[in-house]
Amino acid sequence: MQMPLSYSIRQAESHEFDQFLVYVNDLLSDNGRDGLGYFQPLSRSESRFPSERAAGFRTGLEVPFSQAGWRRLWVLRNANEKIIGHIDLRAHAERFAEHRCLLGMGVDRDHRNLGLGTRLIEHGEEWVKANASLEWIDLQVLSSNEKAIRLYEKCGFVRTGETPEMFRIDGQSFSYTAMTKLVG
Ligand SMILES: CC(C)(COP(=O)(O)OP(=O)(O)OC[C@H]1O[C@@H](n2cnc3c(N)ncnc32)[C@H](O)[C@@H]1OP(=O)(O)O)[C@@H](O)C(=O)NCCC(=O)NCCS
Repeated sequence: MQMPLSYSIRQAESHEFDQFLVYVNDLLSDNGRDGLGYFQPLSRSESRFPSERAAGFRTGLEVPFSQAGWRRLWVLRNANEKIIGHIDLRAHAERFAEHRCLLGMGVDRDHRNLGLGTRLIEHGEEWVKANASLEWIDLQVLSSNEKAIRLYEKCGFVRTGETPEMFRIDGQSFSYTAMTKLVG
């Protein structure tokens, strides 16, 4: 598939959250599917956005930036306004880490390998650069998710460590890789 001729990346507000949830639940429905592997620490039977996390995610979008618990979401939409990708950045839970943020992302299964993941990361980085108080972007990724790790490395993230056997999901062990990028 070609890169969509017309697409946009725009910051999503909390009233767009229900639409985002439909997209992200579809994305997560592939987690642990035969041949696709795991990309989230969720069991195959619970591969949807956990309802207790959904409320916190939505609330975070309304928390003013630089206050504890802030989160920002950008959605990639095609010409029909369908959500086909996202990136989100959020505060660390720890105090005194306000110069850092955490990244999450995904691209719809039918729109991968077109450079859209790269575009989303570039977009997130521009926002971080524009916020003088932020300097580092951190992330954690299942070590088995080679595709994502390759994308992050291409975008300048470096591995900072790995927790062996962090998760045991559906009878399998998964290590967790931490990565970071200095942006500011
Ligand atoms: C990981 C993920 C976000 C990557 O998104 P993506 O849009 O496919 O990323 P890109 O297209 O920018 O890059 C992926 C590959 O496509 C290649 N590519 C980019 N533009 C291309 C083009 N025009 N033609 C052909 N290949 C292209 C890249 O070189 C890269 O190749 P590689 O995997 O061999 O290194 C996506 O696979 C995904 O959503 N996975 C499930 C969720 C997930 O893992 N999220 C991260 C959890 S931490």
